[in-house]
Amino acid sequence: MRLLTVSPSTPDPALVAEAAHVLRAGGLVAFPTETVYGLGAHALDAAAVQRIFAAKGRPSFNPLIAHVPDAAGARALTTAWPDAAARLARAFWPGPLTLVLPKRAHVPDVLTAGLPAVAVRVPAHPVALALLRAAALPVAAPSANRFTELSPTTAQHVQKALGDRVDLILDGGAASVGIESTVVDLTGARPTLLRPGTLSVAALAEVLGDVPLPAPSPGREDAPRPAPGMVERHYAPRATVWLFDASARDAMAARLAREAVDARAGALLLSPWDARPAPALPLPMPDDPAAYAQRLYAALHQLDDAGCAVVLVERPPDTPAWQGVRDRIERASR
Ligand code: TXA
Ligand code: MG
Repeated sequence: MRLLTVSPSTPDPALVAEAAHVLRAGGLVAFPTETVYGLGAHALDAAAVQRIFAAKGRPSFNPLIAHVPDAAGARALTTAWPDAAARLARAFWPGPLTLVLPKRAHVPDVLTAGLPAVAVRVPAHPVALALLRAAALPVAAPSANRFTELSPTTAQHVQKALGDRVDLILDGGAASVGIESTVVDLTGARPTLLRPGTLSVAALAEVLGDVPLPAPSPGREDAPRPAPGMVERHYAPRATVWLFDASARDAMAARLAREAVDARAGALLLSPWDARPAPALPLPMPDDPAAYAQRLYAALHQLDDAGCAVVLVERPPDTPAWQGVRDRIERASR
């Protein structure tokens, strides 16, 4: 594996061209996006896409997102471009929003896990955009981690998780959004929110003039196969996560004592820990949802690296602005 360090805002075109060359040749390139680092491959090359599944240890029924430099690139992969797509793309692209639309025939089934729809996104990170333009092809990219593990927000996280499973890593600094994109399905009669992110339902509704439906519950006869990350334990650190409300801090302290894990416990806290015993590695977290999202995975990586057996996570408020963060920490605690 090679690691190339580039400027996050103005990446050296020669280095970007090297990465684009690897993609064009069917290789794997990890690159920064504003949400998390992606593990990229030529999206129209079935063998290259297959290498992503192998490197991640990801089951083949989990579809991938095709990254494109602009809305025209998205339209080249899809057979429909409804008004909702046009509005959302205009409002939020480039940015942390993924749209699911009916796919064209040349989009390989391995990319969409056999589904008739493809997920498309225009990332906002200058390095991602430069790479997509230089490669001049759609780039399939899930988060650059092993299946079910923590998503990477730095090149070092990618290196730790994937090592030589990836041909090249573009290091463009830390991701600014910090959790994965909001995914909206536009193949049905009404827009459906498949995965919450940092764009709130209210912000989507304002642009759509329609509130997106929640994702269909898995198991329903007519429901599409649930998207990855929607059913299984996902986005999870190695440590066991204990999710708690601030009002239950004393009970958590008692549990730390009972299970004798306080010395090997970390915590993501929104309010001061005033109980005894205390977790050995308490990390104060920002009380702003965007700042919290940016910090979340890096904090969990840090506690994993420190060898924590348990991570206590104080539940953020149950408000729309916290939906994306709450979704990720709920999944991490399963
Ligand atoms: O922020 C992100 O979206 C990051 C960066 C790298 O762009 N990528 C990412 O990819 O999170 P991944 O593979 O970890 O998540 C892909 C998500 C799935 O959870 C699923 O909801 C949705 O995209 N998805 C992809 N293709 C789909 C399809 N054909 N139908 C429905 N959902 C799909
Ligand atoms: Mg992922």
